[in-house]
Amino acid sequence: MKILIVGGGGREHAIAKKLAENPKVEKMWAAPGNGGMASLCTLVPLKATDVDGIVAFCKANPVDYVVVAQDDPLCLGMVDALAEIGIPAFGPTKAAAQIEGSKIFAKDLMRRYGIPTARYEAFDDYEAALRYVQTEAPCPVVVKADGLALGKGVLICQTREEAEEALHEMMVDAKFGASGSRVVIEEFLTGPEVSVLAFTDGKVVKPMVSSMDHKRALDGDEGLNTGGMGTVAPNPYYTKAVADRAMNEIFLPTIEAMNKEGRPFKGCLYFGLMITADGPKVIEYNCRFGDPETQVLLPLLKSDLLTVMLATTNGTLVETDVVFADSSACCVILASGGYPVSYKSGYPITGLEDAEKSAEIYCAGVRREPDGTMVTAGGRVLGVTCTAPTLREAIKRAYNAADKISFTDRHLRRDIGQRALKA
Ligand code: AMP
Ligand code: GLY
Repeated sequence: MKILIVGGGGREHAIAKKLAENPKVEKMWAAPGNGGMASLCTLVPLKATDVDGIVAFCKANPVDYVVVAQDDPLCLGMVDALAEIGIPAFGPTKAAAQIEGSKIFAKDLMRRYGIPTARYEAFDDYEAALRYVQTEAPCPVVVKADGLALGKGVLICQTREEAEEALHEMMVDAKFGASGSRVVIEEFLTGPEVSVLAFTDGKVVKPMVSSMDHKRALDGDEGLNTGGMGTVAPNPYYTKAVADRAMNEIFLPTIEAMNKEGRPFKGCLYFGLMITADGPKVIEYNCRFGDPETQVLLPLLKSDLLTVMLATTNGTLVETDVVFADSSACCVILASGGYPVSYKSGYPITGLEDAEKSAEIYCAGVRREPDGTMVTAGGRVLGVTCTAPTLREAIKRAYNAADKISFTDRHLRRDIGQRALKA
């Protein structure tokens, strides 16, 4: 089996490492991949969003299967384009990826099918949106750009003035480009957040272990929102009772709704949930694996990843085991100081080999120089994951390993998993 992975972050490195465990995998490419993936994959200098380029590459090379890991190529229809040339791919079609690509689509879907989520109104007209926040909207209120915005298109507004400002930024200043020309304005929910990623072939849904992301840049959930500064799994707030409700009230109804809409979803569906006093509600859907959630989930996956992925594509998930270890995992992200705003790159990374003796290292913003040195090349540089029988031990091990790695301006949060320990 020869596989192309589309994407180049820590998530893609984790996918590559897990796929490599299957002896049937004889060759992997990554487009664009990263310096840390180069030992497993041949790096292809194509952007993950270059649908035509990827299709041309697959025509010219003996690619059997493509794993489209990133949101934007999925929303651009890469899986559809590959299907047209007869190449199967992991991930949803363009129509199904709309569940992440358009927040208005996702919210309307939930409203139509009675799936619990925050109450909302959607607007494509600035004046109408403004009138709504000035008069009827609840406070605090959440303003969301409709389209993909690199995880930055969500603004939590404590006052009406803040909400007016948010609308102006999105709809008038076009801070998020076309993504913000339409907005969702929704009720602010409170409660612990849980990420549940699930494999689905559009018929059955098999959830993975739950996890907890740490989105803010600084300790104590201070600072700006980032792609994620660390994760732990399982998430202690996701009890059996909550999981049962989520399955019946959210997961199965969502799969059913997508089928009824003629957009069957295949691949990994990510449910961002909030456990409110009224039960679990959907904060967001993602049409792909999370990053860095994947870096704690795949180390705990006991089943063969390739077999499971192929089952989602082929519609045979019902007969495929998806089994996770009964232990815990912690991933600590090492970032470039200044991320997510501005940071410098090109600093040599030391201690990787030492850290690798006791942890899984997943590279993201890492470039490999011609002489073999690894240098920083992005905001989130790498993730360090350890598993252990208890969460406390997994956290301790992950920080021990993380502290063996150094580079100039290294930034990490020191409190990954602390809230989970107090749950
Ligand atoms: P997102 O960029 O869509 O992942 O959202 C970023 C974060 O905003 C989420 O992880 C939540 O913490 C928060 N958030 C989004 N929607 C709501 C809401 N309706 N109520 C409270 N917090 C929210
Ligand atoms: N870590 C959140 C995401 O992947 O969207």
